[in-house]
Amino acid sequence: MSKVYVTRMLPRPVMEELGRVCEYAANEEDRPASREELLSGVKGCDGVISMLNDAIDAEVMQAAGPQCRILANYAVGYNNIDLAEARRLGIAVTNTPGVLTDATADLAWALLFAAARRVPEGDRLVRHGSFNWAPEFMLGADITGRTLGVIGAGRIGLNFARKARGFDMKVIYAGRHRSSEFEAETGGTFVTKEELLRTADFVSLHVTLTPETRHLIGEPELGMMKPTAILINASRGPVVDEKALVRALRERRILAAGLDVYENEPEVEPGLKELDNVVLTPHVGTATVGTRTEMGFMVVRNVAAALAGQEPPNLVRA
Ligand code: DGY
Repeated sequence: MSKVYVTRMLPRPVMEELGRVCEYAANEEDRPASREELLSGVKGCDGVISMLNDAIDAEVMQAAGPQCRILANYAVGYNNIDLAEARRLGIAVTNTPGVLTDATADLAWALLFAAARRVPEGDRLVRHGSFNWAPEFMLGADITGRTLGVIGAGRIGLNFARKARGFDMKVIYAGRHRSSEFEAETGGTFVTKEELLRTADFVSLHVTLTPETRHLIGEPELGMMKPTAILINASRGPVVDEKALVRALRERRILAAGLDVYENEPEVEPGLKELDNVVLTPHVGTATVGTRTEMGFMVVRNVAAALAGQEPPNLVRA
């Protein structure tokens, strides 16, 4: 039977299903596999199931050996895998698109609401006995009828923007191309990134991490945003220059931010933690029971196909 290394335990029904298609060894600790564990765990495996925080590079692929057929990432993003090296070695790389779109878009909305209406700050005040209703107590930003700027019109950006209809928002979007599907489903207008930054009340990032999108939002971009604007990032941390964001938030050059992802996860820029006008969640965009389970079954289907010598359904072609 083929053997697969799993860098972190997946939900129980998924592990049971995996056990039906192959033998596996897994990191059963409640922490990511260390580099040493990863390099020794993959040795002699036909496949590897990896998490977004495992660096799957040439060294790991060499350590796995020439029989390795698949690197199945438990995420839609795959910036943690050296695709060029995998392609050179003929190893299939797969991801988990689609099943996590709603959950990730929903979390971006949760951050938007939490940041605009200062939900975590209000929660802290209530717990510390500072409940003090007054006409100007805890004023937040208006949402309904405002302009939503979406950067990245892929699956998650589109889903996120579609949900703005319930709040009568005007949608504008920027990205690599104009998308007729995006416009038909959201009524959104394609604008340049600069125009979006200058006019949106909310700027939400839904791009993949590539060399072109690293620090897509830095000092100049934050400088273009309105002082009343809110930045949301549930895509990948390095898309935002975190140090520049801390400065902009501290100096109130933008109103607030909601972040689920960070430049150096699991580290979080200390300046962010000191600010009240930023809402921080620990990369939980896909963290619902249903989504994480479906992602797992998708991973197992990809592994099963590759081990059977077939093309996996979610092969990354990029
Ligand atoms: C993904 O799937 O890429 C998400 O970021 C995981 O939470």
